[in-house]
Amino acid sequence: MTDSSAKKISLTGIKPTGSLHLGNYLGAIKPGVEMINSGDYDCFYFIADYHSLITVHDPKVLKEYSYEVAASWLALGLDPSKATLYRQSDIPEILELSWILNCFTVKGLMNRAHAYKAAVQENNEHERDPDHGVNMGLYSYPILMAADILFLKSNMVPVGADQLQHIEIARDIAQVFNHHYGEVFTLPEGVVHKEQAIVPGLDGRKMSKSYGNTIPLFLTEKKLKKTINKIVTDSTPPEEPKDPNDSLIFDIYKLFANADEIKELDAWYRKGIGWGEAKAELFKVVNRQLEAPREIYNELMSDKKKIDLILEEGAQKVRPRAQDFLNQVKQTVGIN
Ligand code: ADP
Ligand code: TRP
Repeated sequence: MTDSSAKKISLTGIKPTGSLHLGNYLGAIKPGVEMINSGDYDCFYFIADYHSLITVHDPKVLKEYSYEVAASWLALGLDPSKATLYRQSDIPEILELSWILNCFTVKGLMNRAHAYKAAVQENNEHERDPDHGVNMGLYSYPILMAADILFLKSNMVPVGADQLQHIEIARDIAQVFNHHYGEVFTLPEGVVHKEQAIVPGLDGRKMSKSYGNTIPLFLTEKKLKKTINKIVTDSTPPEEPKDPNDSLIFDIYKLFANADEIKELDAWYRKGIGWGEAKAELFKVVNRQLEAPREIYNELMSDKKKIDLILEEGAQKVRPRAQDFLNQVKQTVGIN
């Protein structure tokens, strides 16, 4: 048996709130899979289903999205013999830890968390009560996320840049606790790749399920082409030279193409390229990367028992660690 205890722990979670998109792939899944394949980390990746319950209140939909997240990880390279994939809700100790952390989190920290602030800002813009539609799940979301990260003594958390604030909050909460009781929690670090920190969506804003501006990962080729064609462009005529550095299509292209391809498209832009042609080039490189995973994804989605089995095995590996650590934390605070 290999001794993995010396390895650093990499952990990340994805909420099952909709079909995953290129931003999720480049921001979280790809770097997560690279960490698995490097052999340098003990990797734990999970489906944050309790986080989704904040917004998804249809049981069938929540279940389906959870399978989609699991199948996406597996199709995009997570090998369950090398890394652990599990469902957050299979580890109830996370919720117990979350309550304990609640008692060490000052309310002001939650007031500043960006998901809550964005909801308040939107309510203010619409002249509604500032807390309209805000449930306590949304408000205390970062505390559950801190519990997700801290119970496994995670060192590295691969995420898109939007999640860095939450990792800072997890560190803050851990430090308050450690200051009082000694070094119980390991302080996590966010891992963000510079180029793919924020992948833009069809409208140029951050690609996000909540903005409806995504390019989903596992569309049919035909639908993928159609979605890419929706990228917003201006009315510059085809023959006119264009600045590749001021083009959403080129921004996304760079994330999927190799250096020679980038150089060639750059030259074509400067010579004059039609937006339809640029979009066709983008489709080629994106589709090239997704072709093989798409088949695996579709197979898995039609054999959910296989996914269940992998998730059960994952939970069996994680749960004893969660139980041990929670016992330690409970003893530390004087409960048990
Ligand atoms: P969404 O914003 O679409 O709801 P999630 O919040 O579920 O996505 O994000 C899951 C993971 O994917 C997180 O690590 C997040 O930072 C990353 N991610 C999401 N959108 C992007 C993006 N546009 N660019 C880079 N990373 C992203
Ligand atoms: N909050 C993350 C998101 O919206 C999902 C998440 C939940 C997560 N728990 C986590 C990410 C722990 C990293 C580590 O994308």
